[in-house]
Amino acid sequence: MVYDTFARPLRNVRLSVTDRCNLRCSYCMPEQEYVWLPREDILQFEEIDRLVDLFLGMGVDKVRITGGEPLLRRSLPDLVRRLAVKPRLRDLAMTTNGVLLAPAAADLREAGLHRLTVSLDTLQRDRFMALTRSDEIERVLDGVAAAAPLFPGLKLDTVVMRGVNDDEIVPLVEYARTHGAEIRFIEYMDVGGATRWSADRVVPRTEMLDALTRHYGPIDPVPEDSSAPADRFRLPDGTVFGIISSTTQPFCAQCDRSRLTADGLWYLCLYATDGLDLRGPLRAGASADALEALVAERWSSRADRGAEVRLADQDRALIPLSSLRQDPHLEMHTRGG
Ligand code: GTP
Ligand code: 5AD
Ligand code: SF4
Repeated sequence: MVYDTFARPLRNVRLSVTDRCNLRCSYCMPEQEYVWLPREDILQFEEIDRLVDLFLGMGVDKVRITGGEPLLRRSLPDLVRRLAVKPRLRDLAMTTNGVLLAPAAADLREAGLHRLTVSLDTLQRDRFMALTRSDEIERVLDGVAAAAPLFPGLKLDTVVMRGVNDDEIVPLVEYARTHGAEIRFIEYMDVGGATRWSADRVVPRTEMLDALTRHYGPIDPVPEDSSAPADRFRLPDGTVFGIISSTTQPFCAQCDRSRLTADGLWYLCLYATDGLDLRGPLRAGASADALEALVAERWSSRADRGAEVRLADQDRALIPLSSLRQDPHLEMHTRGG
């Protein structure tokens, strides 16, 4: 196991398999046009497999497949099948926007995917269109309905934005319950990029809890000892939900996460602006030991606490659009949130 300068272990890799997405969520891909990663730069499944083996050998035991939208990657179940058989991989999960999920859910289950999270910010068709610029809510809801029986403990992720969907917290709890899913409300994060984030759009966790308490009665925390960002709570009737307060209560101190972009750059913090190129050495024939040394060196010098820094610096300058166009890695959908 490798530890960083704050004694945080490297345990968790978020694996982006494509930078492309079939939605344009305002908080993630606010622009209409994007510069995509060059096709030849995208890691092949064999290459991903090798890098995952490397990470597993160093103590990682959780991998989450992300995007862009991971289901846009052709033959994704084949990658899942390769990864799912690795004995050291305790947890193999995926986050999807759900648009392509209904026809893929059974294949993913059969391929051995352990856990699944679907992003769902609203149950209203017009809002969904405004938020994602696509009329796809029915396909997402069909995806949830298809996946819920196959993936017990299915999670739903809702980014709560003031004046956008903050009146849907209760309906979303009810919706999740009908599918036996666990909903998690995420504080809107300033992930940089071109999103028009502003502090007054963030609905803090305390406010979400107040709204839920007014509706359901007293809410109990579910004590847990884990590095997961969600704090879990129980309603009086036993329904469990989560809140990810990454904006008002950053969890940097427990962060064991890193992310591998679809083109093989390894980023640590969600807010990092530069990553370590693993594709280059991999394709140049670097040995497993040499790659391991690179990764160990980068993790052991890790000192970032991005969300904490951002909380302290409300007036920080945004990255200009021209820089974002030059380096798509600066955007969340490329790095794989
Ligand atoms: P589990 O493996 O089920 O615990 O998943 P998780 O709780 O880690 O959830 P998931 O990976 O789906 O992440 C949920 C949300 O947490 C993301 O969509 C982000 O909004 C936020 N998040 C994930 N990783 C990070 C991170 O490294 N830093 C911060 N600040 N937020 C993150
Ligand atoms: N704030 C909070 N969560 C975000 N995500 C993407 N951008 C943001 C943001 N600005 C998360 C959402 C989405 C997942 C893919 O990434 O949970 O569902
Ligand atoms: Fe929305 Fe996810 Fe696509 Fe970003 S990657 S635009 S959050 S669906």
